[in-house]
Amino acid sequence: MRILSGIQPSGALHLGNYFGMMRPAIELLEKGEAYYFIANYHSMTSLFDAAERRKNTLDVALDFLACGLDPKKSVFWRQSDVPEVCELTWMLGTLTPMGLLERAHSYKDKVAKGISPNLGLFAYPVLMAADILLYDSNIVPVGRDQKQHVEMTRDIAIKFNEAYGQTFVIPEPQIRDEVAAVPGLDGQKMSKSYGNTIEIFGDEKALRKKVMAIVMDSRPPAEPKPDADKNLAVQLLKVINAGVGAEYEEKLRAGGLGYGDLKKKLFEVYWEYFAPARARRAELAANLDHVESVLRDGAQRARAVASKVLKRARQASGLE
Ligand code: TRP
Repeated sequence: MRILSGIQPSGALHLGNYFGMMRPAIELLEKGEAYYFIANYHSMTSLFDAAERRKNTLDVALDFLACGLDPKKSVFWRQSDVPEVCELTWMLGTLTPMGLLERAHSYKDKVAKGISPNLGLFAYPVLMAADILLYDSNIVPVGRDQKQHVEMTRDIAIKFNEAYGQTFVIPEPQIRDEVAAVPGLDGQKMSKSYGNTIEIFGDEKALRKKVMAIVMDSRPPAEPKPDADKNLAVQLLKVINAGVGAEYEEKLRAGGLGYGDLKKKLFEVYWEYFAPARARRAELAANLDHVESVLRDGAQRARAVASKVLKRARQASGLE
């Protein structure tokens, strides 16, 4: 079973990314052949700064490797290192009805937000379909917001197979459940666009300050808190360490635990949890040649599959 997913290079990784996407993705390595890439072509639809793209792309690579993605048990590469995907995008685009793209939620949302769309943004789902189909992917783990894109991929693949004969594997989306949704500093879902994130890597002092600044109510420490499960620090603690989370929830419920001490505990547990990843990331950052060679090796292995599938599509459609 081949599992494939793309990761947008969109800046510093936070707890929501880690528990919502990265850890489940790393756990999936045990379930099949995992193909993960950094979607830097996709980032071109909305980021127009070359240095920033280069930095964000490298950051994702460092973050994933530091957090435990084993490049020996997976294929991990930079999307643009396998440019075959662009040729397939063209081929698929010719079978993609305009109406299908016009109905894409993600496109409509971006336009509604006032983004002036370019052709790339409109064709974003076609590039994503090419990503998926180029590797004969069976399972595509994505967030709920990407489900429609995987369904469009299926539609496009079926059309191609009908027009030119059996060529592509029809993939299945695997929607990550939202049970592990991580609340942000303001209680809304943790998301970069809400500016309520706790980053995984960064300056200790600044991060401690962020955690200690979480707003709580004014009830005195001694007062029992029957609503302890609604407390944001308790919820975050539970995400990071269920045992400690449950213990502090009880303490808070019983009364006698001050919010300052609770937040201190939260910071401590969070900081410790990522200590090994932090050390690995520092090591990797000091050895960028190694990181580059990991990505190159991944691209080579990805390309071996991509060129075969692309050839199949070229032959089926009469280009060869
Ligand atoms: N669009 C996806 C996102 O924003 C990233 C992505 C690009 C992707 N290509 C993909 C995900 C292929 C799964 C499969 O999260």
